[in-house]
Amino acid sequence: MIERTFLMIKPEGVERGLIGEIIGRFERKGFKILALNLTRLSREQAERQYEEHRGKDFFNDLVSYISSAPVVTFVIEGENAIATAREMAGATDPRQARPGTIRADYGIDVQRNVIHASDSEDSARREIALHFGDLANEDE
Ligand code: RTP
Ligand code: MG
Repeated sequence: MIERTFLMIKPEGVERGLIGEIIGRFERKGFKILALNLTRLSREQAERQYEEHRGKDFFNDLVSYISSAPVVTFVIEGENAIATAREMAGATDPRQARPGTIRADYGIDVQRNVIHASDSEDSARREIALHFGDLANEDE
């Protein structure tokens, strides 16, 4: 099924000059880049992005970190995009991520794990709408 998903290169990925490398992987895999933005999220935007984690012990740290410096937000479209992007990102903790995944190759620790990828159809729709408005609708 052709899907859209939301991806974000986290602050340390931008700082370390990994934008081209990471976006290139999705391009070479065959996904179409539908939207792309270099932006610094406000605290409120970061809280909304990660609202499913509100109340967890890492929530405040996560929100502070994500809103601390610019990120690259982007939307890709292609076959099975949601699960494929999660596979290409790798496990949350880079030490557990399979070799060849983005987090295994570039992640530093469980927080500074370089990339975010939506984890379900509902999350993808919600996160695309949060960052790119109308693109959440497949007929746009
Ligand atoms: P993401 O949402 O960023 O794609 O990551 P994920 O689905 O693999 O992991 P999730 O459980 O949704 O966690 C979101 C982000 O929170 C940070 N985190 N820190 N200190 C910790 O134990 C901890 N656990 C999670 C990571 O940056 C993780 O990607
Ligand atoms: Mg997640």
